[in-house]
Amino acid sequence: MIHARVAGTGSFLPGKPVTNDDLVARGIDTSDEWIAGRTGIRARHLADPDVTASQLAYEASVRAIEAAGCRPNDIDLVIVATSTPDYIFPSTAALLQARLGITSGAAAFDLQAVCTGFAYALATAEKFIRSGSHQRALVVGAEVFSRILDWDDRGTCVLFGDGAGAVILEASERPGILATALHADGSHNPILCVPGQVSRGQVTGDPFLRMDGQAVFKFAVKVLGEVAREVVDQAGLSLDQVDWLIPHQANIRIIQATGKRLGLPMERVITTVAQHGNTSAASIPLALDLAVRDGRVQRGHRLLLEGVGGGFTWGAVLLEF
Ligand code: UT7
Repeated sequence: MIHARVAGTGSFLPGKPVTNDDLVARGIDTSDEWIAGRTGIRARHLADPDVTASQLAYEASVRAIEAAGCRPNDIDLVIVATSTPDYIFPSTAALLQARLGITSGAAAFDLQAVCTGFAYALATAEKFIRSGSHQRALVVGAEVFSRILDWDDRGTCVLFGDGAGAVILEASERPGILATALHADGSHNPILCVPGQVSRGQVTGDPFLRMDGQAVFKFAVKVLGEVAREVVDQAGLSLDQVDWLIPHQANIRIIQATGKRLGLPMERVITTVAQHGNTSAASIPLALDLAVRDGRVQRGHRLLLEGVGGGFTWGAVLLEF
């Protein structure tokens, strides 16, 4: 039986941390007390205006490829989860493939599931590998969310940041991904969206992220609890057999409420929201890579990765690292 196993991880954050006080100094009508108290966020990274998602993806991918001990041309599938691509087309994945010098004709495409994008991409890559059609996938979450923020809307602009995380997923005889679950309910699209359109060469309508924060909060806590149980049940395991919960990093209060619902103490939850803010599709692989590199996540540990975001989408991946 062919399994899909994580061979290496990498991540990248642009520039220096921008603290809550830095945002106040830039003229945003907010405070460290409000942001940290409501969300747990203390800082985020913001890319320079000329830095794109594929550049962040490249830096994270180089680190993941090095950690996996392979070469770019050993990769036969590139999937980039992003809602902030470099261009309308070609895909950020194709641009990343070119930057990495992959000349083998590897398949490359973007996947758009907003903050659940990385869970969707990892689950998709797993199906390719388990089918036997592909042997080694580069799976990336990369975002420059700062580009779609309305800096006059203090209710959203303080919450997000830029960054990228990547994994190499490869065919293996040893178990890796144990269970996946992906869901969506498009009827909830108005509570988190960027409603602009491209028409006649211009963005028409509203090009910025709009959100009903309280509706998102309630929905997120509900589905993150449900989908975590779903993958654990699917694998025939129990939650106390999970070593680490690595959730999407939007708000520490959502993460704490999810941990509580699942009976998982915060000592078994990886959090980066304080330092990174919400980096959408990049947040799970950024948190995973941090915990791998600081030694908390070890080979053989069981990890529960889960996300929720615009669409609405939600999903989880249970894996043995
Ligand atoms: O990937 C998923 C992405 N999104 C999320 O996960 C968001 C989930 N939701 C949340 O995290 C929370 O709903 C927020 C952090 C966005 C907002 O917290 P809240 O407790 O729901 O606050 P609120 O929107 O009800 O606003 C409360 C007050 C308002 O003032 P008044 O009307 O009570 O006087 C806002 O104007 O807080 C005010 N406010 C701010 N004050 C200082 C809103 N944003 C700010 C701000 N600084 N940045």
